[in-house]
Amino acid sequence: MKAMVLKAPIGLDHLTLEDRPDPGAPGAGEIRVALHGSSLNFHDLGIATGRMPTADGRIPLADGGGIVEAVGERVTEFAPGDSVVSCFFPDWQDGSATIGDFSRTPGDGIDGFACEFVVLPASAFTHAPKGYDAVEAATITTAGLTAWRALVVDGKLKAGDSVLLLGTGGVSIWALQIAKAMGATVAITSSSDEKLERAKRIGADFTLNYREHSEWGKAVRDWSDGRGVDHVVEVGGPGTLAQSIEAVRVGGHISLIGVLTGAAGQVPTAALMAKQARLQGLIVGSRREQQAFVRALDATGIRPVVDRRFPLEALGDAFRYEMGAGHFGKIGVEW
Ligand SMILES: NC(=O)c1ccc[n+]([C@@H]2O[C@H](COP(=O)([O-])OP(=O)(O)OC[C@H]3O[C@@H](n4cnc5c(N)ncnc54)[C@H](OP(=O)(O)O)[C@@H]3O)[C@@H](O)[C@H]2O)c1
Repeated sequence: MKAMVLKAPIGLDHLTLEDRPDPGAPGAGEIRVALHGSSLNFHDLGIATGRMPTADGRIPLADGGGIVEAVGERVTEFAPGDSVVSCFFPDWQDGSATIGDFSRTPGDGIDGFACEFVVLPASAFTHAPKGYDAVEAATITTAGLTAWRALVVDGKLKAGDSVLLLGTGGVSIWALQIAKAMGATVAITSSSDEKLERAKRIGADFTLNYREHSEWGKAVRDWSDGRGVDHVVEVGGPGTLAQSIEAVRVGGHISLIGVLTGAAGQVPTAALMAKQARLQGLIVGSRREQQAFVRALDATGIRPVVDRRFPLEALGDAFRYEMGAGHFGKIGVEW
């Protein structure tokens, strides 16, 4: 079977198309999936460029969407022909988080989904949202579920709440769509006025260019009548957290998700304390949470924003496109 593989020294110029052995028939408890799509995340980019270490020969990509071809003994949840989507943590089925690293995350600690077929435990997949193609389904594994967990599972979002989103990448645009579908109002920042216009067209209530307004935290608080927002989906990290604390309401919730501005830095701890805000770190979510998210997508009919699609063989170009930060929402890869 065809697979894109990361070869040492790892970097985008060493992404190679290889012929790998077919994984064969599923054993007990397993399913065989014909993969047809994936989507790119900042994490995948870190792996593919060598910024985050991985093994020589690793098949990249954490997100996988496809069709079940065969099921092993004792598999009752899936049948041949079902559309399925992979789980970011194949071993975290339910309950509170028990895993704090990527050692079992596809495309990082174990092989990912940039290939034609996989045979894996059925519990490493869920059903895909109804009517989604493989690329659309794949966008829920990482970006979609992260946004869902931040707002709904951890944030307990309800109609009337206000939400601040940073930038217009995969997680933020998923969060925009979820928040609007659930009756929240949304402020969003971007480096691009054109992207802010696009965000307005899918429901953003307040937009701000973070390059032109370095004090965007106060501007967002003013937009919320001085009260501050109920939720912040913090994808920036150390370079944005101070402004996010400025923007959040007293008693609000900040989901600490991203590292776009780096992995460590100064935190205005006194300001956070005065806000009495909850700062909650998170990594994606459990399979049970993904199932609840799929149910919500079936009920609301939300479709993800896929900016552009690349063929599997052009995976390097897809990552270069992500590095250029010209995208809005998700970048798809399909085959
Ligand atoms: N903890 C988790 O579970 C989890 C899960 C998924 C992602 N993440 C993290 O979340 C972050 C976003 O991931 P993604 O996959 O959505 O990335 P992505 O699709 O590559 O999004 C990148 C976008 O972020 C925006 N951005 C960059 N620097 C910014 C800044 N200083 N302030 C505000 N926005 C900025 C830019 O938007 P504009 O072009 O509009 O300016 C850029 O296009 C990454 O750090 C990623 O590692 C964490």
